[in-house]
Amino acid sequence: MGNLISCSIDKKKKETKASDFEIICKIGKGSNSNVFLVKKKNTCQYFAMKTIKKKSIKSDKKLERILTELEALTTVRNPFVVQIYYAFVSEKYVCFVMDFVNGGELFFHLNQKVEFSENRILLYAAEIIYALKHIHKAGFIYRDLKPENILLDKNGHICLTDFGIAKKIGKFSRTNSFCGSIGYIAPEVLTGQKYSFEVDFYSLGVLLYEMKHKSFPFEQNQTNEQKESNNVNDLVFSDSCSDEFQSLVKSLLENDPEKRLGFGKKGYKDVMNHPFFVNINWKILSQKKYIPEYVPKIQNNFDISMIDSSFIKEKVSKCFVDSTSEMDHFLFKNFCFDIEKEKSKKKISKRKIQ
Ligand SMILES: Nc1ncnc2c1ncn2[C@@H]1O[C@H](COP(=O)(O)OP(=O)(O)OP(=O)(O)O)[C@@H](O)[C@H]1O
Ligand SMILES: [Mg+2]
Repeated sequence: MGNLISCSIDKKKKETKASDFEIICKIGKGSNSNVFLVKKKNTCQYFAMKTIKKKSIKSDKKLERILTELEALTTVRNPFVVQIYYAFVSEKYVCFVMDFVNGGELFFHLNQKVEFSENRILLYAAEIIYALKHIHKAGFIYRDLKPENILLDKNGHICLTDFGIAKKIGKFSRTNSFCGSIGYIAPEVLTGQKYSFEVDFYSLGVLLYEMKHKSFPFEQNQTNEQKESNNVNDLVFSDSCSDEFQSLVKSLLENDPEKRLGFGKKGYKDVMNHPFFVNINWKILSQKKYIPEYVPKIQNNFDISMIDSSFIKEKVSKCFVDSTSEMDHFLFKNFCFDIEKEKSKKKISKRKIQ
């Protein structure tokens, strides 16, 4: 009975599709994708739409990554992770429709002259760890923590985007695929060993050091073997760094994954309990009740003043063409998501329980 109701409701509501959106401008670019600010024509709501060319999906592995990206985005619900609303295939692209997070990339803010105070870094670090906790609990290694993938929302809170190379693994499994972004990759990944969730904590160590010093912790022109022999005790910290900050960064940048802070299936707990976070109440943090030191000057939900102007100036076509091919329906049959349908499904299952 429940299924019958669900089907009739699903049929009544038309699939959300690419042509339901108007393209306003380009707002970002990744190695695989272009990201646009779009407006949903019937509601006038603004969203960010990540598009990946179907033609670029030439292997099963690439298709699998896209499906994992969708799975991660739809599974991980967290105040510091971007929210997805729709996913579909157009004539030329696979498309993810997400919240437009318009306070700018952390990368953009790091490149401004102003220094990040330790308090500012503390809140960013805590919010990222809270996001990683839920990503790991859901079984995903994020694998791409870097300032380009970390956005600020309109109030200055962290928002992680881009699950493009996330990997789903079992609690006790390990993987050994080589991926990540240069500078942030843990030594065990570089040297082809099996690894797990703790690689994300190594990247966090790099990021924390970078937020304070605006440079990488270790020399970048090293061979992988040299990188493996980097010693955290040789790290140079600026005088204004507290002992707790230094201790946290050193423990995260530990080469040996088993000695690294955050190792193990509940490693995030050890990171959260580090003395650097002694003044963080994690419940208050999870409710976004700490007020960020820096709040981007944003006027409204479609303000693009924090976006790189070279993207905005790019000429883009105004609309999408939907997909009609049978082949697409076969190849991308698992690539679809509609938050409105998900909500109606949930309502139905609640009614069934009563
Ligand atoms: N929801 C969003 N709101 C605002 N900007 C976004 C959003 N999602 C992505 N962007 C911007 O678009 C850029 C590219 O997106 P994303 O990182 O997801 O692409 P990618 O091709 O997977 O990137 P990479 O080169 O890291 O593999 C991001 O760095 C960010 O600046
Ligand atoms: Mg990215």
